[in-house]
Amino acid sequence: MSLTARLDELRALIHYHNHRYHVLDDPEITDSEYDTLFDELLSLEDAHPELVTIDSPSQRVGGAPLDGFRSVHHERPMLSLDKCTTVSELQDWLSRCRSRLGNDAPIDLTCEPKIDGVAVALVYEKGVLVQAATRGDGQSGEDITANVRTIGSVPLKLTADEIPPRMEVRGEIYMPLAEFERFNEKARREGVKALINPRNGAAGSLRQLDPKLTADRPLTMFCYSLGWSEGSWQPETHGEVLFRLDEWGFRVNPDSAVFRDLDGVERYLSELLARREDLGYDIDGVVIKVDSLALQETLGNVTRKPRWAIAYKYPAEEATTRLLEVEFQVGRTGAVTPVARLEPVFVGGVTVSNATLHNMDEVARLDVRLGDTVMVRRAGDVIPQIVKVVKSRRKKGAEKVALPDNCPVCGSEIVREGDESVARCSGGVMRCEAQRKEGLKHFASRLALDIEGLGDKLLEQLVEMGHVATPADLFRLDLETLIALPRMGKKSGENLLVALDKSKRTTLPRFIYALGVREVGEATAMSLATHFLDLEALLNADQTELETVEDVGPIVARNIVSFFAEQGHLEMIEQLRDAGVAWQPLEKEKSALAPLQGQTWVLTGTLEQLTRDRAKALLVSLGAKVAGSVSSRTDQVVAGPGAGSKLAKAESLGVPVMDEAGLLDLLGERGIAID
Ligand code: IVH
Repeated sequence: MSLTARLDELRALIHYHNHRYHVLDDPEITDSEYDTLFDELLSLEDAHPELVTIDSPSQRVGGAPLDGFRSVHHERPMLSLDKCTTVSELQDWLSRCRSRLGNDAPIDLTCEPKIDGVAVALVYEKGVLVQAATRGDGQSGEDITANVRTIGSVPLKLTADEIPPRMEVRGEIYMPLAEFERFNEKARREGVKALINPRNGAAGSLRQLDPKLTADRPLTMFCYSLGWSEGSWQPETHGEVLFRLDEWGFRVNPDSAVFRDLDGVERYLSELLARREDLGYDIDGVVIKVDSLALQETLGNVTRKPRWAIAYKYPAEEATTRLLEVEFQVGRTGAVTPVARLEPVFVGGVTVSNATLHNMDEVARLDVRLGDTVMVRRAGDVIPQIVKVVKSRRKKGAEKVALPDNCPVCGSEIVREGDESVARCSGGVMRCEAQRKEGLKHFASRLALDIEGLGDKLLEQLVEMGHVATPADLFRLDLETLIALPRMGKKSGENLLVALDKSKRTTLPRFIYALGVREVGEATAMSLATHFLDLEALLNADQTELETVEDVGPIVARNIVSFFAEQGHLEMIEQLRDAGVAWQPLEKEKSALAPLQGQTWVLTGTLEQLTRDRAKALLVSLGAKVAGSVSSRTDQVVAGPGAGSKLAKAESLGVPVMDEAGLLDLLGERGIAID
């Protein structure tokens, strides 16, 4: 094969696998196979720089830094949208459309999530991405081509036959919530500036003069319209545009839908709102568009807003309020977390009066002081956060927040190890009641020993009255002690003893999780159990062996080693086993614990008991791969209420579908009970 033919082949292969990975979320080859292809391309291009093309995947990696961004004029203005917040305003909008069109014919409406990111216009010539620009003032924006090239889900080259010779595709670049959280957790650990919200994160990443910095940011894009196109293709509806964009390899939101009437739209609005926390990205509402492009044309625009579309806004996920006080909470591992007490404020659909401040580095970075006006964010299933202080509204002499020298619960010294940003109470479980209580709550929790009827309040009482200090003490409780507790009758006492007894028959993954090793969650506990098969092997494992376990990195490995190096912990394990805590030995066959090995699962619609992230982590721990789109290679789809196109596709391909209850049953059979 000639050199140019091999280069073409490599580029085509890489484009193909890139699309499978970034757009379809359904890779066909492993990362290392992909790297091998990429390395070959890089080395051939290195040896023959004259053969490098602008659409080569190698050009994603990030070119030379720029001095500034060139301004580009949009051939057709990028419009903004009228907003509404009630269904009656939506009805008014539709009536206005009808009266302008002068008839009562039904109007098909498309609904799509209104992504809270950065609007971008991509120009393709002969299928090659030649320009990417921000919206700017709508007339002209900034040329951010070099940065947009680094985003894996943006096609550099389109390969379908019928692509318009020139066209502009528009959409929203955003940072997925999980990536945003990961980025910020890392920033907090390293004491560097965290991102305020995913939208600022995306905007800031796109405005880097050095594309290599953008390449490191986890960005992706949903395409939602065609700015203009040349050539013979004349789409008739917005839905047809989305369908083509998807076919050509753009990432198109799978949650778009077309409705004949407002009832359908209303249902969509409430179903999407119910799923807002599970979407994995920030939305601020729904965009409703007249589906027919001819009708769009007839309706036209008023100044910079189209008459044919409207944004229905959901409650904001950010709001300002006042910081009343900062309290320090002591967790299971002694971590002392500053918690903000706020003047109650309605945000993200609920009233929030507490927000986490994470740690003292975060307090210092925000420079938050008592009485400050702060911006609170509540999005996804994460706890409310303070993202910003409105400094202009600070009162003179506002008091700084100081870390206490001593634990507010046990009085032991508070220490910070090395350069860790977390401060900890040095009392340990033996001296610190807060750590004891939290450790016991964890031990009894659903994913750990799952002791039914042993709620937080009851546990706190048992600890405060000195009946229980360690997990093994729970199994020494007797009826007499229990019925002496306030509000505890004979029947509930007996029930609790039965539940305690029942919880002794557990599983190895649950037991490992229940121990409460720092940063060992249920998915990691499952990986450890699958790897070691019995507790003795885990106890004896060294750092090197631990690091070979799936999702165990050096830090988690170190936490495990130091946990089992403590005599007190070994004694606790001994006492628990003496009390009768036991599990079935695992078969020496690892597949017993990874029954879904080699399977690809897809989650869609709303999950009510599990968050999407947790469901994913649990499936992964059982060996499955969780993909974002349904294909003929999908083994199983889990569909909740509101499932749309993925469910339809699964049904048309004959892929088995189960509901959340089915998933919970399956997890239950594996010893993972959720409710
Ligand atoms: S359509 C004239 N569709 O919302 C049509 N916009 O306020 C305008 N946006 O700047 C664009 N998701 O950044 C459209 N599915 C979606 C959208 C969307 C987010 C943003 C876009 C635009 C702003 C308009």
